[in-house]
Amino acid sequence: MPHPDALKWNTRYSSDPHRSEQKRPHALLTSHLHLLPAPGLAVDMACGTSASGLFLAAHKWQVICLDVAESALRHAQVRARKDTLPISFAVMDLTYPWLPVSSFDAILNFYYLARPLWETYKKSLKPGGVLFFETYVWQPGIEMNPAHYLQPDELRQAFMDWEILHYHELNCPRSSDKLRQIAQLIVRAPI
Ligand SMILES: C[S@@+](CC[C@H](N)C(=O)[O-])C[C@H]1O[C@@H](n2cnc3c(N)ncnc32)[C@H](O)[C@@H]1O
Repeated sequence: MPHPDALKWNTRYSSDPHRSEQKRPHALLTSHLHLLPAPGLAVDMACGTSASGLFLAAHKWQVICLDVAESALRHAQVRARKDTLPISFAVMDLTYPWLPVSSFDAILNFYYLARPLWETYKKSLKPGGVLFFETYVWQPGIEMNPAHYLQPDELRQAFMDWEILHYHELNCPRSSDKLRQIAQLIVRAPI
């Protein structure tokens, strides 16, 4: 029996074979590359077609890409092979994952919200390692499950004990319809 998230996301990725080519790395990452430590090991969590992971790999990072949807990872793998980038891929349910302690120099978490991960991130980043996080904030009128959205200021509060390098809540125009609120966070693990 496939994981329900895998079922949902594999269908989405398979129905749009050009999704990978269209995706750009997230601007939060490309415009704050200088906040990262020297290239080391990064993990791109719920990476999708991993445009941001591929971007880091092209900047001399070794990157592990994790996602529950194998079709997304296949798209990413094709691009990684074409450009001979140092990336590995694993299909994984990230709802309650285990990550090795003090192992990563950077963690990317774009548009995936599983709150139990936050403590895992705190343990698995090396001292001085950096977390990039961006996803939607719940607003009145949104009919989707509020658990899938951040509350205003929730992300900043969760990482108050770390060095916050960037925190911003802003309106982000989405491909089609109306403006949506997002939160962006960059934090550094204590040295
Ligand atoms: C909105 S997409 C974001 C993809 C990518 N991080 C980006 O920003 O382009 C959400 C991703 O979360 C993945 N996902 C959903 N549920 C998951 C789970 N339980 N475990 C791992 N990945 C999951 C989906 O397959 C999808 O690729």
